[in-house]
Amino acid sequence: MAALELCGVPLRGPVLNGSGTFDAIAARRAFGDALFERFPFDAFVSKTITLEPRQGNPPPRLWETPAGMINSIGLPNRGLEGFLACDLPELVRLPVPLVVSVMGFSRDELAQLVAAVGERDEVAMLELNVSCPNVETGLVMGADPAETALAVERVRSETAKPLVVKLTPNATDPAAVAAAAEGAGADAVSLVNTLKGMALDPETGEPWLGGRTGGVSGPAIRAIALEQVAAVAGRVEIPVIGMGGIASGRQAADFIDAGATAVAIGTESFRDPAAGRRIAAELADLSLSRGTRATSSMTV
Ligand SMILES: Cc1cc2nc3c(=O)[nH]c(=O)nc-3n(C[C@H](O)[C@H](O)[C@H](O)COP(=O)(O)O)c2cc1C
Repeated sequence: MAALELCGVPLRGPVLNGSGTFDAIAARRAFGDALFERFPFDAFVSKTITLEPRQGNPPPRLWETPAGMINSIGLPNRGLEGFLACDLPELVRLPVPLVVSVMGFSRDELAQLVAAVGERDEVAMLELNVSCPNVETGLVMGADPAETALAVERVRSETAKPLVVKLTPNATDPAAVAAAAEGAGADAVSLVNTLKGMALDPETGEPWLGGRTGGVSGPAIRAIALEQVAAVAGRVEIPVIGMGGIASGRQAADFIDAGATAVAIGTESFRDPAAGRRIAAELADLSLSRGTRATSSMTV
């Protein structure tokens, strides 16, 4: 029996993965069918795909910070055609609903991705990663309410599937962006993506990461993420998927208390690939001890 519904999609629980932080295809190769029997998440979010294949950023791509990391991966992926031909047939075997994350460098590109991915029966929902510059305007789509509204309006008619808009924390007012996404037809919002950050090579004083700057994630950003989730949840009616540094059931419960319907685990899965299941179990224990919490019998 489903424990909750997210945008009409039944989920057995409220713990998802953050896009790009758990490679389910590699994990299947490493753990075999045991991965399916104890799959760590209640829905699986693919890493972000783009229209054309991308190599990603030059190395190094990671820098460890005292309470998290900075990544400069640069969205390497096979592109839409490669994803549909190679990755989708693998991901469809996962025992949970599939959310496909897409990013376009223009609204038309985003619309093309949404149309092509949205028509596949295997896909339960789409997530729009809007943390990238629109090549037509130079503005980061998700940093600006009007840009976000135009992007969501453009793609809304391309699919009947639920659209989740993934918000960037690198915005002046993420709640205003969330409200704009909702007004333009988004079914849910997820936040936070990584915060912009930088590390210098101690030997040379030059940027350590091949992409020069990167995205900070992990416990270092949790307090910021929690505040943004609370602000967004106070502003929109649609469900909010909260993430940013969650490493325990207690911390997941904080995001739910702040107004999130579901949570996502990112950086913690690098430390412990089974973190999703552990956090879900800790969250369920907390729900029982409190008597009520969003994990039991909720419909959104
Ligand atoms: C290595 C790495 C790769 C990521 N790739 C993506 C991605 O492809 N698309 C996306 O929307 N977010 C991506 N993210 C952001 C995460 O999904 C998540 O929003 C962010 O890391 C905050 O959660 P966390 O602190 O639990 O990691 C990535 C994060 C990391 C650390």
